[in-house]
Order: sequence, then structure tokens, then C-alpha cells
Amino acid sequence: MKRNRLVAGNWKMHGSLAANRKLLDAIVAGAAGLGGVECAVCAPFPYLAQAAECLRGSKVAWGAQNMSEHLEGAYTGEVAVSMLKDFGCRYVIVGHSERRQLFRESDAQVAAKFVAAVTHRITPILCVGETLEEREAGRTEEVVGRQLDAVVNKGEFAQAVLAYEPVWAIGAGRTATPEQAQAVHAFLRRKVPSETVILYGGSVKPQNAPAIFGMPDVDGGLIGGASLVAEDFLAIARAAARKG
Ligand code: 13P
Repeated sequence: MKRNRLVAGNWKMHGSLAANRKLLDAIVAGAAGLGGVECAVCAPFPYLAQAAECLRGSKVAWGAQNMSEHLEGAYTGEVAVSMLKDFGCRYVIVGHSERRQLFRESDAQVAAKFVAAVTHRITPILCVGETLEEREAGRTEEVVGRQLDAVVNKGEFAQAVLAYEPVWAIGAGRTATPEQAQAVHAFLRRKVPSETVILYGGSVKPQNAPAIFGMPDVDGGLIGGASLVAEDFLAIARAAARKG
């Protein structure tokens, strides 16, 4: 079956009103002629209004990088799914390894965020991935399987996107080989509905994107650093569009 292609930018904690404006305008212009792939940017919360303003009516969707598992209440500093909806978000990243590692998000918490997103019709981009230590101990499938199983049994996975992001490849300039990515994607694929889009993330650049996207179970990418440079992000999106 032919699955959708998606290239999503994760800006992480980068940006300013002025820099975002230039970046978004360039992405909108470049994406206008792009067929066969959907583009999205996941911006920091304060810039969602700007993203909505710049991207509304364009071919580029927008989303957030995190959200609360609670729907409302006394949770100082948190952001609810209904607020993301207010700003037109199509996507929300949940369970990014930086959230799991730096902010101690548990599998159960990630699963609760996932369910809240699906229930409110925002597409979660669920991230899974192993550390270098876990890979070297031969535990990759056990770890990503556990992270996915915490969620698969709960929400409606048919409405979600999955992203395999090996922790050792994130921001490292070191990427999984296409074969390493394919092996994990094929493992994950067996656990989700056949139409589920599975992205690869971890130092995807214009140079390595064609080979990674050429793998049969890789449907696109979740892009960190390269998503902050319009030409690079667009070149990566074109590589996904070229996939047959
Ligand atoms: P880099 O592309 O900078 O390695 O980041 C990947 C990532 O974490 C995307 O969510």
C-alpha cells in the first residue's frame, strides 16, 4: 500500500519572530511546487500564532513539540491540547527523547499525552528510540517495542504518526545507516496498522536523506537542525517526494 509521505521540522528551542518569518516565508514559497509529500513545522509554543498566520492557506502544516496529558486545571506552565487546537495545530510531537531524558517523561505519561491528542483530533507524532548503550547491548527492539507497546494498546494508532529517533543519532552529525533505520522501521511496522506513517529522525540532512528515504519502510523524516535552514528542509522534503 502507498502510504503518505511526511517531512516535519522540529525546531526545538530555537527561533525568534524575525528569524521565523524569513524561514516560514521561504518554506511556503518552496513547498508551493512540491507534490507527493506533506511538510509541517513544529514550533515552540509562543510562536504557534505566528506559524498559523504565516502558514494558513499554504501547503505547510504546523504543530507543537509537546503538550500536557491533562485537559485543563492547576498545572502551572503547561499547555493543553485544546489550546493547540485553538491555534490550528495539526500535529504534536509526544515522547521526544529530550522530553523522556531531560524532563523524565515516563512511558505512561507519554501514552496519556498520546491518548489526549488523538481524542482531540490532533495527530500525535510519537517518538521512540534507543540510546547508544542500549543499542550496543542488543536491546534496540526491546526498548522501542516497550515504548510503542505502552501506547499501541491504548489510543487509535491509525490516526497517529510514529517516528524512530535513535538517541545516539540526534544532533550528533551521526546518523543511522539506511539499513539500520530500515531494520527498526520494519520491526515497528509489524506492531501498527499498515497505513501508519513511520518517520526517521536523527541528523537527517540533504546529503543523507535520499538513501534513508529510499528504504521501503521509511515514509519521511522528523528533522531537527536542518529544519532551521529553509533550503535544507526543502531539499529533504524533495527527497521524500521523489520516493516512489
Ligand atoms: P537533528 O536532526 O538535529 O539530529 O534532530 C533530530 C530530532 O531530534 C528531531 O526530532
